[in-house]
Amino acid sequence: MRTLVTGCAGFIGANYVYYLLSTYPDEEIIGFDSLTYAGNLETLGNATQNPRFRFIKGDITDGDAVDALFAAERFDIVINFAAESHVDRSISDAGVFLRTNILGTQTLMDAARRYKVTRYHQVSTDEVYGDLPLNRPDLLFTEETPIHTSSPYSASKASADLLVQAYHRTYGMPATISRCSNNYGPYQFPEKLIPLMIANALADKPLPVYGEGLNVRDWLYVEDHCVAVDLIIRKGGIGEVYNIGGHNEMKNIDIVKMILKHLGKPESLITYVTDRKGHDLRYAIDPSKISSQLGWLPRTKFSDGIVKTIDWYLDNRQWWERIISGEYVEYYKKMYG
Ligand code: NAD
Ligand code: TYD
Repeated sequence: MRTLVTGCAGFIGANYVYYLLSTYPDEEIIGFDSLTYAGNLETLGNATQNPRFRFIKGDITDGDAVDALFAAERFDIVINFAAESHVDRSISDAGVFLRTNILGTQTLMDAARRYKVTRYHQVSTDEVYGDLPLNRPDLLFTEETPIHTSSPYSASKASADLLVQAYHRTYGMPATISRCSNNYGPYQFPEKLIPLMIANALADKPLPVYGEGLNVRDWLYVEDHCVAVDLIIRKGGIGEVYNIGGHNEMKNIDIVKMILKHLGKPESLITYVTDRKGHDLRYAIDPSKISSQLGWLPRTKFSDGIVKTIDWYLDNRQWWERIISGEYVEYYKKMYG
């Protein structure tokens, strides 16, 4: 079995590569990534020592490079994690989001058709469903919830999903889609809520909480996400969409306080800043389809996962301290002043 993992040098893609290498001792994995600001080859350090993994640098929007890759490698499975993934960046500049997230998906699927892959899996997001009100805890996103996007990021991911469904219907493309909630865990780029707050707390810098910090996200430990995606690819129905998440809803402000407490830092570091434009209030997944049909449930409780994550950032300071120099310094100044 030969699997292509795009976006393999990013947060979830890299965790997925490690998951496959440790779970399937006979399978070969090719990682493809253009190494944007969010991609980091150091993250794949241990994987590159493994003869069953190879990294190829390239852009999913580059039709010639993608064709050459598929012609040379003859994949059975393609999993597309590659994307521009940060909502705030999409609000400042949508163009690259549309190119990578929509046209990149089309380029990959065209190659997947030409070279007859047996499964194309699109990693999507619960953000395609828009948001839920804060005062209706009974409402959850199901696979039937209408697409209703808020940010250029979520609009680009939703467009890609529609294209995948169109390729399935029109060409019989053997595709599946997963829509997961917010991931957290090792190797997440420190522009996202949890690693950003850990890094700032460790540096005794202000922790910038948008609005009043009351927005709710449904947190998924990255390893649980990897297990779910793999299950969908191996056992899921072709043409199907699966939501991945699991009743781990938390208010942003409560997470920030948990991080400060675990690190022994004062709450006076919390700084309320201008809210994100179009800020989604609440995300919450109903995982009953994947749990009843494929037997998946998240194993990691938030209270355990957050401690594992904070400890990982404490133990791997070099990894993220190198990242928050360079381009990130300019982004941070522009974003937070
Ligand atoms: P990430 O930003 O950490 O990593 C994205 C990777 O894609 C990077 O390594 C980057 O270099 C690569 N990439 C970007 N543009 C590329 C291009 N044109 N060609 C090739 N590679 C390119 O993102 P992530 O958090 O690992 O997210 C992975 C996927 O999961 C994305 O599709 C994202 O939309 C989705 N998702 C993420 C979350 C989350 O909480 N992180 C939640 C729901 C869905
Ligand atoms: P983020 O990690 O960017 O993920 P997403 O926007 O995909 O949910 O943000 C998670 C939540 O944290 C979201 O409600 C925005 C909020 N947030 C802050 O309050 N401050 C910050 O500096 C960041 C990056 C996010």
